[in-house]
Amino acid sequence: MDDSNKPILQPVIELMDDISDRDLEDLCIAVDEAVLDGNGFGWLKPPERSKQKSFWRGVVTMPMRELYCARFEGRIVGSAQLIKPFANNEAGAHIANISTFFIAPYARGHGLAIGMLEVLVQSARKQGFKALEVDVRETQKAAISLIENSGFVRWGVKKKYAWNGERFVSGFYYTKDLEEVVKL
Ligand SMILES: CC(C)(COP(=O)(O)OP(=O)(O)OC[C@H]1O[C@@H](n2cnc3c(N)ncnc32)[C@H](O)[C@@H]1OP(=O)(O)O)[C@@H](O)C(=O)NCCC(=O)NCCS
Repeated sequence: MDDSNKPILQPVIELMDDISDRDLEDLCIAVDEAVLDGNGFGWLKPPERSKQKSFWRGVVTMPMRELYCARFEGRIVGSAQLIKPFANNEAGAHIANISTFFIAPYARGHGLAIGMLEVLVQSARKQGFKALEVDVRETQKAAISLIENSGFVRWGVKKKYAWNGERFVSGFYYTKDLEEVVKL
């Protein structure tokens, strides 16, 4: 098939209720590349494939977690989770968190992270959460720019937030008020 007959595959952000073997493999490849690039939400080196697959399979089964994946040219290239509070946490029931948010280095710069963040904000708002929180290493300049440009406010800094394999780095804590009315 020459290029003119290829279907056009639009980038999309998908809520994953389940994950196929092919998508899981692509997600693991994307994580490995992000870890090697210097940020793997905790992993310092690419995790053993079987361990990583168990991790993601566990994520899609947990009711308090929503797993979103970014698909680019048909392949999974990144993820983010909306983490909802446990049922016992009545005092904190108004706050949702973002975790495992990344786009693989080979798919960056196409607006996928902006799209992903917007989907997370919309989902949290729709479910009645009043605030959305995220924390990030001080060294993640692209993520900091994205988060701050998206209306998140930095409320705290934690020293020794993360060990990067060579030294401790600080972490920035952000919150977004989902009740705030955007003035146009
Ligand atoms: C942060 C990250 C998700 C951005 O992914 P992306 O798909 O390239 O981002 P987008 O193309 O959607 O760009 C969104 C915004 O991010 C910021 N951004 C992206 N790349 C940037 C860079 N190299 N330098 C500074 N800001 C950057 C900009 O604000 C950009 O908006 P703009 O294009 O209007 O300037 C990606 O770099 C990544 O996975 N980094 C490592 C993991 C990480 O830091 N995760 C965040 C944890 S909260």
